[in-house]
Parts: sequence; C-alpha cells; structure tokens
Amino acid sequence: MRILTFSVLKNCKIKTSLFKNLSVQAQANNEIEKLSDPNLVEILPSWKEDEEVELRSTVLQHMRVLPNFVTEEEEAALLAEVEPQLKRMRYEFDHWDNAIEGFRETERSQWNAGNSAVLARVRDVAFPPHAQLLPHTHVLDLAPAGHIRPHVDAVRFCGDTIAGLCLLSSAVMRLTHEQRPHLALDALLQRRCLYVMTGVARYLFSHAVVRGAEGAWRGAGVRRGRRVALICREKPRAAAE
Ligand code: OGA
Ligand code: MN
Repeated sequence: MRILTFSVLKNCKIKTSLFKNLSVQAQANNEIEKLSDPNLVEILPSWKEDEEVELRSTVLQHMRVLPNFVTEEEEAALLAEVEPQLKRMRYEFDHWDNAIEGFRETERSQWNAGNSAVLARVRDVAFPPHAQLLPHTHVLDLAPAGHIRPHVDAVRFCGDTIAGLCLLSSAVMRLTHEQRPHLALDALLQRRCLYVMTGVARYLFSHAVVRGAEGAWRGAGVRRGRRVALICREKPRAAAE
C-alpha cells in the first residue's frame, strides 16, 4: 500500500488543532535536543530573516537531524536483513504520477534481535512516550538517480511524527511551505543519521528528497548513491484513538 497519495493530500485541510500541542512535546524531548545538530537544517535565502519569525523557529524545532544515529556495524546489519527482500524487486521508474521515482520498497514488522534493538532506540528517541506506531517499518530504497517529489504524508495513513533512518547514502531533503513556497528549508541527511519530522514540519510543509544532481548543501554538491531509508510512523490519529 502506498503511503503517499497525492489526491488524498490535495483534498486534505489541516486543522491547527492537529498539532497545537506538538511544540511542547518536541521541547520536552531531551534526547532529541541532545542528539540533534541544528547546523544540519538550514533556512533558504528566499525566507527573509524578518519574515514569519515564529514559524521559522517552530519549524526548526519540528525538523531535527540526529547525525550518526547508528554505527557502521548497525547500518550493515539492518541492510543485511532487508537486502534479500529488496533484491527480488526492480526499481520503478517512469510513472509520471508517482510521488517517487526510481524506488523499490517493502514493509517489515519482524526484525532480528540486534536490529529490533536499534529500531527500539529510534522509537524511544523520536516519539513521545505513549505514541502508537504503525507496526511495520517502511523500507524505501532509492536508486542513485531516484528521488521523492514534494508531498505531505497522507493523514489517513500516518500520524504526527515521522522518523527516518538514512542508510547507504547522504541526501538533501527540502521542506517547502504548502501555501507560501518561498518559505523553505533544507536538511542535510547524512548517511546513518536519523531525522525526526513532526508538527508544523510534518503538516504545513511538504518534504522532498532532492534528485541527486540537484542536491547541494551550502554551495557544495552532495553525492548521491543508492539510499535506503527505514521510516517509522505514528498511527493515523483516527486509528490511534
Ligand atoms: C516517504 C518519504 C523520505 C525518506 O516515503 O513518504 O518522504 O527519507 N520518505 O526516504
Ligand atoms: Mn514522506
């Protein structure tokens, strides 16, 4: 089942009540505060310094990048468990209406003990204590030329917080305000980082994984190879209630 459904997204009006408590939750999470590096998220120059100052500070609270969240050994062990499944699939290209180009994907809910421990760490750090997560982790494999177009994860399938463990290749993720596209920011998702997107960043901004050649960070190109993301999501609100 595809998590990204553009038709659903377009018709979905976000109520502010959906995320009004999230800034408090995000601030209360000490681990994110300790482990994230604010230098890995950067407001683009089109967003002038004196414009929407409060929104700027909130979106920076709500989009966090935690570098080196897993070790090289943990990365290799996670990949070893998903690789046999992925290898049986072909990358999908050339579907004009796809949100994602050059990808293959699967979902996984059973992991060996070591990998389960790593994913439990993701849950503990990224989500509020009583969050209900989808039982499966979304495994998204992007080819070197693969990319993800701007979208908001459908509220029908996904709750407040999304956490992605980035394996094998670095990439640039761009967040763009849905109504005012000049309000935008980039996140440098280095290999083995975890990103945590919640609240305003999750609902008011679209996110995209930029095409390899277009991904730049502070003026320097970011080399993109094959990238595998393990994405944990909260259950959609209706299902969690
Ligand atoms: C998605 C998505 C981002 C990533 O699958 O909805 O936005 O890190 N993925 O691969
Ligand atoms: Mn998404």
